[in-house]
Amino acid sequence: MLAPFATHAQTDCLSCHGDATIKDDSGHNIGVDGQKFSASIHGSLKCNDCHADIKDYPHPEHLAPVECSKCHSDEQDKLKGSVHADGKEHPCTSCHGDAHSIFPKADPRSAVYPLNVPATCGKCHGDSGEGRKHGLSSVLPNYMDSIHGFALSKEGLLVAANCQSCHGSHGILSHTNPASPTFKANIPKTCGSCHAKIDMDYEDGAHGKAIAAGKMKAPVCTDCHTAHAILQPTESAFRMQSTPICGSCHKDKLSTYRDTFHSQLGSLGGYVETARCWDCHGAHKILPASDPSSPIAPANLVVTCGRCHAGANASFVRYQPHANAHDRKLNPALYFVRLFMNLLLASTLTFFVIHTILWLVRARYDQIKKKSAEGDHHA
Ligand code: HEC
Ligand code: HEC
Ligand code: HEC
Ligand code: HEC
Ligand code: HEC
Ligand code: HEC
Ligand code: HEC
Ligand code: HEC
Ligand code: HEC
Ligand code: HEC
Ligand code: HEC
Repeated sequence: MLAPFATHAQTDCLSCHGDATIKDDSGHNIGVDGQKFSASIHGSLKCNDCHADIKDYPHPEHLAPVECSKCHSDEQDKLKGSVHADGKEHPCTSCHGDAHSIFPKADPRSAVYPLNVPATCGKCHGDSGEGRKHGLSSVLPNYMDSIHGFALSKEGLLVAANCQSCHGSHGILSHTNPASPTFKANIPKTCGSCHAKIDMDYEDGAHGKAIAAGKMKAPVCTDCHTAHAILQPTESAFRMQSTPICGSCHKDKLSTYRDTFHSQLGSLGGYVETARCWDCHGAHKILPASDPSSPIAPANLVVTCGRCHAGANASFVRYQPHANAHDRKLNPALYFVRLFMNLLLASTLTFFVIHTILWLVRARYDQIKKKSAEGDHHA
């Protein structure tokens, strides 16, 4: 039997646990890599600063779980109020990884170093076996294919948004909680912590003002960009999906836009450059026509349309970008053009239908006549 150690130095514990092949009764490996441990942030601690119930040797076979809160009570308190409060895994090592090789968050070896955060959260919020067990399996794959995931994983851009940038770390809350950075009304500020100029424009626009006034039907950043599958806005996939997104709330404006040349050009199939909602309205600082600084204010239309139509003048911009051909009062010219075209179509069709019927009757008549003539001949 070993004599009790007075100091409980690391080397004492490592005299047994330093053996990489040492196993407990149930065959579980209980070896500890002393070199890795001493390189870690806790390398200067004694083993029983954490394994505090070891007082003597031989130590008890079963030890109490390590309480990190002894030294990190802030993190523990925040975690207690979060969605991760009752995880079955060790509450801290589930994100910080192997307890004996914890590094500061700015060290690339840390599980919570910005470039490593998505994989760390993605263990449980991804499509691996572990992730499927915990649910929400689409988050990691969507994120990795997004502009932020791409910037982080391909370019190593430390300032790109990782899970922690939008959700926080220890005090993560559901998006249904008004205190969460992912609660709808808080999202512009969350994205705006990096995209500051866009947030300012957004807050000056009709949508931002509506949200600030508590009108939750207006869109925030993620209604147009999504949260995890954010695309590069110049990509045609984004531009194709955005018109229906604006239109999902502005149904009347979508249908009147659909009647115009601009939309019909865009719906020929494939992607073409044409005027889409935000080309005329802007994307973030969207203002009603009654606001003199709006790009759709009557006085600004020559400039707005002129971006694409060189030589646009006051008479050109009289063209109605939301033509409603069904409304006679709003658009008399278009109404009558449409009416005329429809009448023309209907009368042309009617003429051809009658013509075809007469032609068939005539053909049948000729056939019968011919048959009876032949019959006479054979008889
Ligand atoms: C004489 C060798 C020896 C020394 C010295 C020793 N241990 Fe152990 N330790 C063991 C063995 C054997 C087990 C496996 C017990 C079992 O069979 O479950 C173990 C198990 C453990 C466990 C796992 C307990 C559990 O609940 O699963 C921890 C933690 C531990 N030791 C920490 C320490 C620390 C810290 C020190 C130094 C203060 C230390 N040990 C010193 C032999 C030793
Ligand atoms: C920063 C705190 C901390 C320090 C310091 C620490 N450990 Fe641990 N250790 C843990 C945690 C956390 C676990 C996981 C089990 C648990 O939840 O208690 C653990 C588990 C173990 C186990 C069980 C086998 C395993 O890997 O699951 C052994 C053996 C062990 N530690 C030995 C040591 C030895 C030897 C030292 C000193 C060289 C040491 N520990 C230092 C936190 C610590
Ligand atoms: C849901 C994952 C998660 C859990 C669980 C978690 N952490 Fe963290 N922790 C992080 C992330 C992410 C960071 C990096 C934060 C940053 O970059 O600002 C971090 C950073 C830290 C830091 C550095 C200081 C700071 O707050 O930035 C300490 C210390 C820390 N964690 C301790 C703990 C302790 C102790 C526990 C258990 C009570 C714990 N963590 C549980 C994800 C987690
Ligand atoms: C005996 C006190 C003590 C215990 C117990 C302890 N730590 Fe620490 N921890 C420290 C000290 C000291 C530092 C280095 C000083 C600092 O940066 O806070 C540190 C640093 C850290 C850091 C790096 C902080 C950063 O700057 O990014 C993390 C992460 C961390 N500890 C996590 C844990 C986890 C997880 C546990 C439980 C498994 C734990 N600690 C248990 C004392 C402790
Ligand atoms: C060890 C597995 C695990 C890890 C690692 C983990 N989570 Fe979770 N997370 C869960 C579980 C389980 C839940 C569900 C809790 C519940 O249903 O109440 C959850 C819930 C959430 C929720 C709220 C879900 C909802 O529907 O309300 C968010 C947001 C979240 N996690 C984000 C993160 C982020 C960000 C990280 C990394 C910093 C992370 N998680 C790391 C297991 C994990
Ligand atoms: C750019 C900001 C941003 C990033 C980066 C981000 N999220 Fe989210 N996440 C959100 C928002 C906002 C929501 C709220 C629901 C929504 O709008 O779709 C959300 C929802 C969630 C949910 C569902 C829980 C809920 O509250 O509905 C989980 C789980 C989650 N995120 C985990 C992660 C993980 C894991 C990562 C990293 C791989 C990550 N998120 C990266 C902003 C982000
Ligand atoms: C931590 C900082 C940060 C946060 C928070 C953040 N982003 Fe980003 N975002 C970036 C960086 C950095 C890039 C540039 C990536 C690149 O160019 O490779 C970027 C790129 C983008 C792009 C592509 C822009 C372009 O021109 O390529 C969009 C769209 C975007 N983010 C939307 C959002 C939305 C929406 C949110 C909130 C749900 C958000 N971001 C939160 C840092 C952030
Ligand atoms: C009503 C829908 C909508 C909302 C709300 C919205 N965006 Fe956009 N965003 C767009 C469109 C459309 C574009 C493409 C604009 C273009 O190409 O001219 C865009 C472009 C971007 C870009 C690329 C740079 C640029 O200006 O072209 C970033 C970054 C961005 N948005 C972030 C955000 C952030 C952050 C928020 C919230 C504060 C937000 N967006 C709110 C629709 C929206
Ligand atoms: C989630 C629903 C939603 C989406 C998506 C949306 N909007 Fe809006 N929009 C609103 C609401 C609600 C208002 C009215 C705000 C108010 O009452 O002050 C508004 C106001 C406007 C206005 C100002 C006119 C007015 O009636 O005050 C314009 C122009 C506009 N939106 C254009 C767009 C464009 C362009 C897009 C796409 C890039 C878009 N909207 C996407 C809900 C939406
Ligand atoms: C070619 C430029 C152009 C395009 C493309 C366009 N609009 Fe407009 N929009 C205008 C002009 C000009 C007005 C003001 C005159 C009017 O109401 O017809 C307007 C008016 C509006 C209004 C009412 C503003 C107010 O002050 O009452 C909304 C909402 C709107 N558009 C949404 C959309 C949506 C959604 C789309 C895409 C489906 C879209 N627009 C496409 C130019 C455009
Ligand atoms: C983003 C670029 C863009 C903007 C902004 C834009 N258009 Fe167009 N427009 C096009 C394209 C592309 C076509 C089809 C090619 C062509 O005929 O020039 C087109 C076609 C047209 C046509 C039918 C063809 C013609 O040239 O007579 C009219 C009328 C028209 N636009 C009016 C407007 C008016 C009015 C505005 C401002 C309210 C406007 N457009 C804003 C890109 C734009």
